[in-house]
Formats: sequence, structure tokens, C-alpha cells
Amino acid sequence: MRGTALRQFAHVAALFLLILLSNAAHAEEGYDLWLRYRPVEASWKTRYAPHASAIVADSNSPTMRAAAGELRRGIVGMLGQTPSERLKDGTILLSANAHDPSLGREGYRIRSGVMRGMRVTTISANGDVGALYGAFALLRLMQTRQPIDHLNVTSEPRLRLRILNHWDNFDRTVERGYAGPSIWDWASLPKIDPRYVDYARANASIGINGVVLNNVNADPNILTPEYLTRVAALAGVFRPYGIRVYLTARFSNPIQIGGLATADPLDPQVRAWWRAKADEIYRLIPDFGGFLVKANSEGQPGPRDYHRTQADGANAIADALAPHGGTVFWRAFVYGNSKVDRAKQPYDEFRPLDGKFRGNVIVQVKNGPIDFQPREPFHPLFGQMPHTKVGLEVQLTREYLGQDDGIVFLAPMWTEALDSDTCSPRCGTPVKATIAAIAGVSNVGSKREWTATNFDQANWYSFGRLAWNPSLSPRQIADEWTRLTWSNDQRAVQPIVAMMLGSREAVVDYMTPLGLAHQFANEHHYGPAPWSCDLKELSWNPCYYNQADANGIGFDRTATGSNAAAQYAPSVARCLADLKCISDEDLLFFHHVPWTYRMRGGSTLWTALVEHYDRGVAQIEANKRQWARLRPYIDAQRFTVVSRDLDRQVLEAWWWRDASIAYWQSLAKLPLPPGHSPPAHPLSWYQAVRFDRVPGFLAPRIDPQTLCVAGRGDKSCALWSSFH
Ligand code: GCU
Repeated sequence: MRGTALRQFAHVAALFLLILLSNAAHAEEGYDLWLRYRPVEASWKTRYAPHASAIVADSNSPTMRAAAGELRRGIVGMLGQTPSERLKDGTILLSANAHDPSLGREGYRIRSGVMRGMRVTTISANGDVGALYGAFALLRLMQTRQPIDHLNVTSEPRLRLRILNHWDNFDRTVERGYAGPSIWDWASLPKIDPRYVDYARANASIGINGVVLNNVNADPNILTPEYLTRVAALAGVFRPYGIRVYLTARFSNPIQIGGLATADPLDPQVRAWWRAKADEIYRLIPDFGGFLVKANSEGQPGPRDYHRTQADGANAIADALAPHGGTVFWRAFVYGNSKVDRAKQPYDEFRPLDGKFRGNVIVQVKNGPIDFQPREPFHPLFGQMPHTKVGLEVQLTREYLGQDDGIVFLAPMWTEALDSDTCSPRCGTPVKATIAAIAGVSNVGSKREWTATNFDQANWYSFGRLAWNPSLSPRQIADEWTRLTWSNDQRAVQPIVAMMLGSREAVVDYMTPLGLAHQFANEHHYGPAPWSCDLKELSWNPCYYNQADANGIGFDRTATGSNAAAQYAPSVARCLADLKCISDEDLLFFHHVPWTYRMRGGSTLWTALVEHYDRGVAQIEANKRQWARLRPYIDAQRFTVVSRDLDRQVLEAWWWRDASIAYWQSLAKLPLPPGHSPPAHPLSWYQAVRFDRVPGFLAPRIDPQTLCVAGRGDKSCALWSSFH
């Protein structure tokens, strides 16, 4: 009897353990990103299984092993069957020997059908990296429930350099990072954290082929032997995944770690120092990608310190890398001359240098002329440096778009920039046709879900997909990512995609509508402070951008003002300067207009402004309601986390809306249009809101209770926010 009881107990305990384990296996923390490989529905299993019974590769390189390993992982996960390694009916053949020039170095072809009575799927490429990309593409087809039995797919990346820029520091703080400490654990390296492999898999799955490991505001020590051996360890992890490592270099390195008296780029000793440094790095990391440099920008040293040009600076370093095939990404993010409109300064400095940069220099230009605002016109340097390689820099981390709040899908912002017509050399030349590379400021950290929120994974994903093919539509990417990340059930896919597609415009509406920019409280760039006007650096002041007073609002960048519009190609410039032609979206970026200015739609500017703020808030509230309805389709853990993110975004949206309207109204002295509620608090209340600095991180935040009150939260919000 006792024995039976014991056995029963053991049985129950084992059952419990099993349940616990299976729960753990299905716990959805977001760690798996878009590579979840959960079991497919029975009907799809019947369709896929006969085409996935074996994986055979024609090379045994580390990259090919990674490709085969990923296919195996996906097939085991999705179909519950372990593919064999022997050729048979249903084989997936991986070949790195396509000898097909049309596929280039990284492209692939996937073909499936019946050959000699056997079902075969071939993934072929001219090298093993292409085969790896093809393996991920086949898995994506299965994850998104596409047929795979009659495939004939060819794909090749449009841009050769597709790079993530980490703004990570040695102490694991991340500049503008909202996803926890840096994933690079410099203290433990060269010991390899398995997470580095998963990071490489994620990047390779979307075609990212370069990673800058450290902050643009660079610590010179990254180029010392102590750190280079650690960098080499990471490069070793990334190599099989087709990812090259890059580092940011501080222009003053020859002085700071080289012991020279100068960093003058024309000084022979300085040039020799860079050459020797490059040689040393390539001995350790033969496929090292190169350097990213922020020079004479926001206090960083640069060639101007020696009365040299940006081209002189870039070329000195480029010459050191050239024998090894390395690249210099040289940033064009310069400003600081208080006498000239900030938006004009990069063009003024770089445009005259067109044609003066070496062939292995890429001038890296932010999408807009200011700084990653929710909306900016495209940067006037695009299309206007025809004899220079220009790269586009976008920001995945949402420095100016709510940081770790809610849902903000950035693909629409990036395609807006990519598709902007530069009219250079002729109309019909979009930004995407003018660039040689794309760089994205990473949003990855060591949070379990990698990025600030689950939905921020979509921005990482989109960046890779757009870098591969800048002509993909945001809808297509959102649809794909949603299926990979949440569900293939149309009842979930459709509403999630709709929420994502409207989310960026909502942020523009509730933060900076109609062409306003940079209305953020200084430093943290999170909350509103359109009234702020007391900072020493003129162009850090919101008042600098809004130029608002009793008469009107907006920055005159036409001929009567700074004339920044004239930096664009003539037909673009003409339209931007013309009130009858310019789009409402860019209106206040280029024009100063009276509060009573008549918009195209007939309403006054004042009314239109208020309507935009309210539209933004309404969209976020709608997203929150929509998400609540998705509960049946989403796992409990991620459902709850996203609900919280959205709760917070609603507060943020109301806060921005109310604070902004309170301020504009104090100047315009106009009544609110009918049907629009007055701000919840007087202007002085919003002006008194203070932020706390989270120790060690450049992410000072508003305290949750205050956010709750600022954002019109009810009692439950205060309760929630106290433990959020
Ligand atoms: C922004 C950001 C800085 C960053 C800079 C850059 O100004 O706030 O933190 O260093 O961009 O791109 O270099």
C-alpha cells in the first residue's frame, strides 16, 4: 500500500514536472524573436513534412553548418520531425556552388519540385553566406504558411553594406538605449555568451552583414590590444553568420592611445599610426569591416581642429584600411554654429567636398537634416553628392518616439525617407537609388526580449528587411513580422498590422504635427517642453524650432528666412518654399505662419493643430482597445506586457497633447475649437514636471505617478504605475 502511494506520489510529481517544463517551453518571453518555429497546424504539417525529410549540404564550412543547423532547428520545431542527412525523397539541398553571376555574392535561389521521381528543394548561391540567407528565407516561407512545393524564388540584396550601429559603452550603458544594459559583456569577453550566437542568427536571418560594436561617442581604448582581443572573439562568433565587425574610432586616437602630439590627418606620423593600427587589427580579425567616425560633432575631436576638411580626416583613415579592404563610415552629423540654421550645416560643410572622399569612404547621413525626429524632410545631401558614396543612417532605438512606450512601427518612417524624390540629377530619383549603404542605430539590449518592447523587435526586423530590399512596403513587412512573431491567424494578423501601420503617424500627431520638430525636454528627449528656451546650445532649444509667438508658429526656411529649402534640388526647393505646393506634413518645418493661417482643407492652422494632437491620442487609445480584443490569440505573458506598454503610451500621448496645447494656447490666445477638451492642468503644471535620471543610463524618466497624472490616468493607473 505504502509502495503504491509512493508510486502515485512519484507519478503525480512527474506529471507536475512535465506540466511545469512544458509551460516553460511555451513561456513566451519574446526571446525567440521572429525565429520561434512553433508547431504548424496539422494541415500545413501534411503539406510541409514530405519536403523536409533530409538536409544535405555541398560544403561543410561553419556557415553551411549554421545554415543546415538552422533548417534543422526550424523543421524540428515546426514539424516535429528530425531531418536525416542522407539524400532521399523530400531533401533540402544546400549548395554554395551555383556559379550564377545573377545571384551576386550574397543572393540565393530556392527551387523546389520533383527531380528523378524525388521531391527536392534546392537552395543555391555563389557562396555559403547566400545559402544561409536562402535557408532563412525558406524557413520564413514556412513560418508564414506559404506553399513550398513549387518554388522558384530568387533574391539578392540591393545594398551591399547593411549595418547595425550599437551606441554601447564599456560599462554596459547604452546611449539612447531602452532595452537594458548592453549585450556586450566586456568584462567577461573573450568568454562567449550563447546570446551572442542568437544575436548573430537574428541578424543573419534578416540579412544584416555588419555590426559596429561601440558608441559613436567613442572611447579610444576600444583600439587597444586589451579590447581588440575581445572584439576578435565576437568577430569569431559572427563570422559564420556573414557578419563583419566594425568599430568606432575616435579621431584623437593617435594622441590618446598612440602617444603622438597631434592627430592632424596630414601629418605623416599620424598616417603611419593609423596604418600600423589597421595592420594590427587585421592580423587579429582578417575580415574586419572598418571604422565608423563621428568627427567635429557634439564635442568630438575631428579634422577641423587642425584646419583640415572632413575629407582629409576620412581619407587618412581610409588609406590605412584600403590595403585590407576596409571601409570608413564618416558621419555627416555636424552642427554647432549658432549663426547658421542647424538644418543647413551638414550640407554646407559636406556638399563642397563631393568627389574628394576616397572610394572606401561612405559619408553616413541621417535620414533628416536635424536628428531622428518623428518626422523630418529627407536630408538635402541625398542625391547631391554624386561623386561620393553616401549611406543612410536611421535610428531603430526610439530616442524621440516614446522610447520604451507602446507600439511605434518605424518602417513607414524609413520608407518615407527611402522613397523621397531627390530630383537629383532628375526627378524620379528616390533616396534609395542614391545610397551605397544603410546603417541603423541599434535598439538591442540585454533585456530578455532584446528590445525595449516586444513590438520594437519589429523595428529591428524591418531595418534588415528594408536594407535587403528598400522597396518592400511597410505593410508587407508588418504582415510578415506579425505572422512570425504573434500568429498566422488572420483575426490577429489584420488588426495587429493595422495598429502598426498607424502607429508612427500617431506619434507625429501627438508630439510634433504639421512639420514641428524637436519639442522635447532637453537631454532625455522623452517628454514635451515646447516652451523651453534657456539652453546654451541654441539648437537644443525647442523654441529654436517652433519660433512660436503671439503671431504665429514655424521655422521660416524659405528665402525670407534661413533659406534651407534652397539646399534641395531646384524643383524640390521650389515646392518646399511655396505654401501652395508644400505638404501639410512639412509645413512648419519650412514656414512661419500665423495661427489663423488658412490650411488647404479650409480650417485655420490653430484648429488643424489641435485636431492633429487629438487624432494622435485617439489612435493610441484605439490601439489599446484593439489590443484588448486580441487576448484570445496572444499568449498570456506577452499579451500582458504589451497591454502595459500601451497603457503607458496612452498616458504619454495625453501628456504631450495637453502640454503642447496649453503652451500654444498661451501664445495664440485662441479658444479651443468646439469638441476639443481643454488641457487637464494649467501650463505651469506641465512646465514644473521633473525627470529622474536612471543611474548609469542616459534615460532619465518621469516618475510613474507624475506621468499618470500628466496623462489623465484614473485611479487604477496610479495603482498600476506604482509598480510599473
Ligand atoms: C543625438 C543623440 C546623441 C547622439 C547623437 C549622434 O544627438 O541625442 O546621444 O550621440 O545623436 O547621432 O551622434
